Amino acid sequence: MSLMDKIDRSRLPQHIAIIMDGNGRWAQEKGEDRLFGHYHGVESVRNIVEGAAELGVKYLTLYAFSTENWDRPEPEVNGLMILLADTIRQEVGTLNKNNIRLQLIGNIDMLPGYASKELLEAVELTGKNDGLTLIIALSYSSRWELVNAVKLIATDVQAGKLAPRQISEHTLRNYLSTSAYPDPELMIRTSGEFRISNFLLYQLAYAELYFTDTRWPDFRKEHLYEAIINFQQRQRRFGKTGEQIKGNAATDAH
Ligand code: IPE
Ligand code: IPE
Ligand code: MG
Repeated sequence: MSLMDKIDRSRLPQHIAIIMDGNGRWAQEKGEDRLFGHYHGVESVRNIVEGAAELGVKYLTLYAFSTENWDRPEPEVNGLMILLADTIRQEVGTLNKNNIRLQLIGNIDMLPGYASKELLEAVELTGKNDGLTLIIALSYSSRWELVNAVKLIATDVQAGKLAPRQISEHTLRNYLSTSAYPDPELMIRTSGEFRISNFLLYQLAYAELYFTDTRWPDFRKEHLYEAIINFQQRQRRFGKTGEQIKGNAATDAH
């Protein structure tokens, strides 16, 4: 039985989020420049997007560049921006062919003009596709997003559009850049680091976390399948007891 066959298609995570980490170390271990790792990381992105689409996953969020990553050495940042723009330009046709809708979260205004132009065009060109929604987090950090949400809420309160007593979890969710997507059920981080690094802090409240030592440029569909199989073996309790969850499962089955 292949790994893919071990996946229960009726219980797929609807939304998978990935912290694509380890490009730099992968390259340095080979005696190469960090950018060499980023170039190879693009191959993994292609493979995983294809794998997620084939399975029927509805949303895939990829953390590609964080707010904090702006502090890296300038040649690495510039190289990443050029790689990003080139990749999007090359891939937009394939995205359309595979019915994939591209979306962005993050402070896109911070990107150089040539990159944001390419990205926004691709969002526009793929906007009508209704297969996989691929969300790229770029110049994104959760604290940036939350501060933004607070500012927007304060503005609406000041304008009299929103009363403080009306603010609920639902309101807050609507002011996040992810308001149109369900929360991720599975979050994968590659390359052996056990941290969230300012990624979707609010949205990951009940996500299952999966960490693997595999460096991002080595990560392929089979690794994604392993993560999903692992996810499907877990009992998600959402604060309840295991017995309550089993009871529900028994009722659901009848
Ligand atoms: C992830 O790989 C890609 C980005 C953050 C842009 P890294 O570049 O963080 O690789 P390591 O963690 O240094 O190996
Ligand atoms: C997180 O990786 C950001 C992305 C994958 C885009 P980092 O490599 O920047 O995270 P830290 O610095 O190890 O926490
Ligand atoms: Mg890293």
